[in-house]
Amino acid sequence: MTAMHAATHTADAIALDNRCVAHNYSPLPVVAASADGAWITDVEGKRYLDCLAAYSAVNFGHRHPAIIATAHAQLDLVTLVSRAFHSDRLAPFCAALAELCGKDMVLPMNSGAEAVESGIKVARKWGVDVKGVPAGTSNIVVAQNNFHGRTTTIISFSDDETARRGFGPYTPGFRSVPFGDADALARAIDENTVAVLLEPIQGEAGIIVPPEDYLPRVRALCTERNVLMIADEIQSGLARTGRTFACDHWNVVPDIYLLGKALGGGVVPLSAVVADRDVLGVLHPGEHGSTFGGNPLAAAVGTTVVDILAGGEFQRHAAELGVHLHARLNELIGRGVLEVRGKGMWAGVDIDPVHGTGKQISLRLAERGVLVKDTHGSTLRFAPPLVITADEIDWAVDQLAEVLAR
Ligand SMILES: Cc1ncc(COP(=O)(O)O)c(C=O)c1O
Repeated sequence: MTAMHAATHTADAIALDNRCVAHNYSPLPVVAASADGAWITDVEGKRYLDCLAAYSAVNFGHRHPAIIATAHAQLDLVTLVSRAFHSDRLAPFCAALAELCGKDMVLPMNSGAEAVESGIKVARKWGVDVKGVPAGTSNIVVAQNNFHGRTTTIISFSDDETARRGFGPYTPGFRSVPFGDADALARAIDENTVAVLLEPIQGEAGIIVPPEDYLPRVRALCTERNVLMIADEIQSGLARTGRTFACDHWNVVPDIYLLGKALGGGVVPLSAVVADRDVLGVLHPGEHGSTFGGNPLAAAVGTTVVDILAGGEFQRHAAELGVHLHARLNELIGRGVLEVRGKGMWAGVDIDPVHGTGKQISLRLAERGVLVKDTHGSTLRFAPPLVITADEIDWAVDQLAEVLAR
């Protein structure tokens, strides 16, 4: 078999991968060839229940029919003009997304990390232009154990040594305080603070839900101290937790939403910074941009995604089935599971290390046809496509119970 032909067997495909693909991931030995709804089929025809949903980028299921139809139609019209010209797709997308968020304006980008970078730039510029912080002296308060992406600036305020080591020098201007501790956050804010940047529920850290009063207190502090509250809803947002945004659980509205992943419908990279005019209006021509940001294909797909979210069906389904998912996972506490955290269709499951590492449990689950991902040693995360059924959840949890019983 040559590299030009798709490998048809798992071992061949993985051998080619090991030779030609940079080793910045450590994937499970499953080689996807096609997918539909909540299911992935590998190169040998074996089917797996996807309980990861591409880190929530496939919230609406693999190849959601309306999203795929939009993509097909747009492929036959125009896919990319860059922002050098207008396209008839971008403004309707931004208008619809702004309305979904209750904000005025949208800055479209591509990856989640780019949305975070862009949010940081907007906050710094707002600090200079609006708050009056001297240029180059601002700070942004972040939470310990955050995950916001992989760029040089973003890893500069990460606590994950594996993500940081060897990549310095780091970008200054960030202060890290414990997640969930509003008093520590209040102490960290000074007159040069332009923003507080948080995941409302920390995802990569293990689906950490903050104390009930935390986000309302963060919101109040940001308002009192004239600081922008930036909610990174790239993984937590767009129906995953049973609400459009995780912040909705606490009736908190941030100044800036950072969105990505599911915004592109699992088809294209599409991210966005969403805020009111008094914030996003600080950007002027030439100050920020992206060749692919807001391209017609992504904008068309994003518009369909926003239409789907505006209907509310996925949020309701995630809320209802999330109760079932958590109830079933909680039954395993004391039977190999130490703790279950999360909201809606998002669960962090701490496995008792006597049963093996998270990676070992993930491998055993994959053998049984269930795909999950480990994080932080012994935590498994369940974040299936939101089209999953109650019976499929039961089957997946039964597989975990059997793996832990052995
Ligand atoms: C909360 C959060 N922010 C940002 C990112 C980065 O997104 P991307 O991988 O698309 O750059 C992620 C990715 O997992 C994330 O979970």
